[in-house]
Amino acid sequence: MTFTTKRLILRPWEERDAEELYRYAKDPRIGYDAGWPPHTSVENSLDVIKKVLIGPERYAIVLKSTGLPIGSIALYFHNDLARSDDEAELGFWLGVPYWGQGIIPEASRELMRHAFEDLRLSRIFCGYYDGNEKSKRVQEKLGFKYQRTIEDFPVHQLNETRRAVVNVMPKKDWFDFCGIRNVVLYIHGKGGSASEAGFYKPLFSNFKILGLDYKTFTPWETGKEITDAVDGLKTCFDSVTIIANSIGAYFCMNADVSEKIERAFFISPVVNMEKLIKNMLLWANSTEEELKEKGIIHTDFGEDLSWEYLSYVRERPIKWDVPTEILYGERDDLTSFDTITEFSQKINAHLTVMKGGEHWFHTKKQMKYLEKWIEKVQKVKQ
Ligand SMILES: CC(C)(COP(=O)(O)OP(=O)(O)OC[C@H]1O[C@@H](n2cnc3c(N)ncnc32)[C@H](O)[C@@H]1OP(=O)(O)O)[C@@H](O)C(=O)NCCC(=O)NCCS
Repeated sequence: MTFTTKRLILRPWEERDAEELYRYAKDPRIGYDAGWPPHTSVENSLDVIKKVLIGPERYAIVLKSTGLPIGSIALYFHNDLARSDDEAELGFWLGVPYWGQGIIPEASRELMRHAFEDLRLSRIFCGYYDGNEKSKRVQEKLGFKYQRTIEDFPVHQLNETRRAVVNVMPKKDWFDFCGIRNVVLYIHGKGGSASEAGFYKPLFSNFKILGLDYKTFTPWETGKEITDAVDGLKTCFDSVTIIANSIGAYFCMNADVSEKIERAFFISPVVNMEKLIKNMLLWANSTEEELKEKGIIHTDFGEDLSWEYLSYVRERPIKWDVPTEILYGERDDLTSFDTITEFSQKINAHLTVMKGGEHWFHTKKQMKYLEKWIEKVQKVKQ
């Protein structure tokens, strides 16, 4: 993985970086404060790259202007400070010629964003050995708060113990620190991805926009994933807004989140799954009886129809009382106009129909319409 900030690129270390690494890591002013011996040769640096620096969530800090590495930053898991799966320790160092330009704070902010938003960690620790005023200052600037002092902290690589100060940043404080109190959670449809959330970033000022990268694809399992995600966000933000596409909207309405959501924006939502499955049975020249008997029917239009799914849908009619905006394409081939109208009236949602629009909003014209729709309905007070 690679990250880009204003002045920097954070990318995995490579063996060809040995010479540049040695240039900075031989200086004892870095290693001593960071808790490792100064490098003794390019070969020694190469060895450190292979054995220490190449690993998950470990990055070379590369200056955009030169393309060369000047320092290192990492998230460490399961060590002396970070004990559980949802915690990490942030560690860093920088070549002496670059000190004092805010480079480590810039790199850290991006890695912390990644840790909280992408890896969904709950807490990040950052520590320094007593007397390391520079690192203390960086941690203050990043918003870390004092947690505890450890008198005999093991400095494994130097075979000694030191007095260490441990700071912590819980997820909630991170978003507070960034001054963001509201979040939009984007739930993609079939074949979509969490990265589509990026489209909505310019449309919601003062909101954090996150996409849910869900791993399952049934209303009961995905519903649970959505519930967990919303519960997590509720501990960090004042309000959670949902944007959901197609079946993502259906999963959302099956999650146990109705009373936790401020507002929802549904694009081509699947609102009557029973009807849709029955239609698909017709398209597949099959019947409910056959589905019941076989359990699963594979279709040549790529959908597997399941009796368990149909039964679940029937047993759990949708209950959704979130203020909701719906965008529907006139030529939606999954949901009829009558179905969407009836549903919108039932849940008291505001329905917008794009003339000539399709189920999948994807053309330039459709995306422009979607953008304008979000801008317009956002202003309408529910
Ligand atoms: C700690 C370290 C990573 C800071 O990185 P950085 O990008 O220079 O951070 P900043 O630019 O925000 O500077 C932080 C503080 O260092 C001090 N500082 C800056 N330049 C300095 C210099 N040339 N000499 C001494 N101190 C300096 C200042 O107090 C500054 O705080 P300020 O911005 O309020 O003035 C870097 O000094 C370093 O690599 N130190 C050795 C390794 C280390 O300590 N790693 C952390 C282990 S916990």
